Amino acid sequence: MKNKLNLRLKPKRRLRKPFEGNPPVPGDPLRSTAPAGFNRRVTKKEKTSLAAFLDLAGDYLAGAFRRGHGEYTFNDETPPPDAVPASAGNDAAADGSLEAIAAEVSRCKRCGLCTTRTNTVPGEGVSHPLVMVIGEGPGGDEDATGRPFVGRAGQLLDRMLDSKGKIGLSRTRNCYIANIVKCRPPDNRKPQTDEITACVPFLIRQIRLLKPKVILAAGNTPAKTLLDSTIGITRLRGSFVNFSGMPLMPLEFTVPLLPTFHPSALLRDETLKAPVWEDLKTLRTRLCELDPEYAAQMADIPL
Ligand code: URA
Repeated sequence: MKNKLNLRLKPKRRLRKPFEGNPPVPGDPLRSTAPAGFNRRVTKKEKTSLAAFLDLAGDYLAGAFRRGHGEYTFNDETPPPDAVPASAGNDAAADGSLEAIAAEVSRCKRCGLCTTRTNTVPGEGVSHPLVMVIGEGPGGDEDATGRPFVGRAGQLLDRMLDSKGKIGLSRTRNCYIANIVKCRPPDNRKPQTDEITACVPFLIRQIRLLKPKVILAAGNTPAKTLLDSTIGITRLRGSFVNFSGMPLMPLEFTVPLLPTFHPSALLRDETLKAPVWEDLKTLRTRLCELDPEYAAQMADIPL
């Protein structure tokens, strides 16, 4: 195109009609009826997923995903002398960073469990534990109190850990107790994959801070989740595995992890007490190798 001065002019660009969104497809959230672009209303569902994404991104930046490099003594129903669970004022809670994680957990809305929980259950115990016990998720008693393993299974766990002094472990002296998910799954169902994925970065951050000498994974859910395995607890239990984090969430150190049966499985099936007692003895032996103070404490206590 040329004008009077014989200069070449660019052809006029036709303005495109602004995009007004995909045609609505009923039931398809990707083809929503809302107009596309920045001016449209963000739905509540989109806000929730954005908040969850930002939370996980926050974890990533905070480092949770950082890439670095005979007679079973717990049979007896009497509680061990110091099985009184640690309160919020124990020494783990005094650690600012563990407290910060607990505070984040209390506000968490990363998955649907936040809509049915009464309390979050971040975990409790000492801040430099010999053993970190990891269970599946809170049940009714834990949801009501905000403390892990306080129901029947929890009382059995306390007796197992102490085993009348033969194992010598407790949440008030040398353990920290936590779960894979920090909120109760309704009707005590198993936590779903998306709930585990949303919650497990909190646990990895706790492990990073606590640096336990050993992890005791109680039951299928913690064993399979932490070991990223499809093998069941019956085959996994009883042998130590080196745990150095999870896919995209590696730790900077390795912790020996011992899978064993969950105490509630023992409440349902007494025959599981024999293998669990074997596992507890294996745990004691390994702790004696790893910790001279514990070894000295156990030296005069025969198994
Ligand atoms: N079962 C678990 O796995 N965790 C608890 O805290 C209580 C029961």
